[in-house]
Amino acid sequence: MADTWETLQSECLHCHDCALAETRTHVVFGDGSRQAKILLIGEGPGQHEDEQGIPFVGKAGMLLDDMLEIIGLDREKVYIANIVKCRPPHNRDPLNVEQDACIGWLRRQTALLRPKIIVCLGRIAAKAIIKEDFRITSEHGQWFSRSGVQMTAIYHPAALLRDVGKRPETFEDLKSIQAKIREVCPELGL
Ligand code: URA
Repeated sequence: MADTWETLQSECLHCHDCALAETRTHVVFGDGSRQAKILLIGEGPGQHEDEQGIPFVGKAGMLLDDMLEIIGLDREKVYIANIVKCRPPHNRDPLNVEQDACIGWLRRQTALLRPKIIVCLGRIAAKAIIKEDFRITSEHGQWFSRSGVQMTAIYHPAALLRDVGKRPETFEDLKSIQAKIREVCPELGL
């Protein structure tokens, strides 16, 4: 049977395909508009996301909301999901085995959404989605085309909280994303 958002979400919320299921409070499925043409992909839930079941609601999430606002976006105009849906203990990087167990959910979300633009937030998402040898320091802001979908990666908002020196480059990347949206999604009127 064809996937629907409802069946996909309810299956995902019951997932026990990796050990992160044992320590999670909530599965963090995704947030935003299921009609969006722009998909943002983070790494995995942190403490606040685990508590609330919503992606990017902690400090990094507040910065992400500000970054979206700079280019005329908000959570109603994008969809936000993570590479892994459950919090890795102590916010460590998700292991390859956890990413491999989880990536099918994101693939199915992407198939339902059919985004025109994918923005990877940080190194982990860029490596999983754009290419395995992605170098975030040298390749952030570059565009890659995969099966007609335009993809880019920017620094993770948590990295921008730790190192404000990365913010000017990220501002340029955000402007490039805005220009790409104007080109590919003119109906958004940015
Ligand atoms: N960092 C992420 O990568 N994803 C979240 O949902 C929150 C913080």
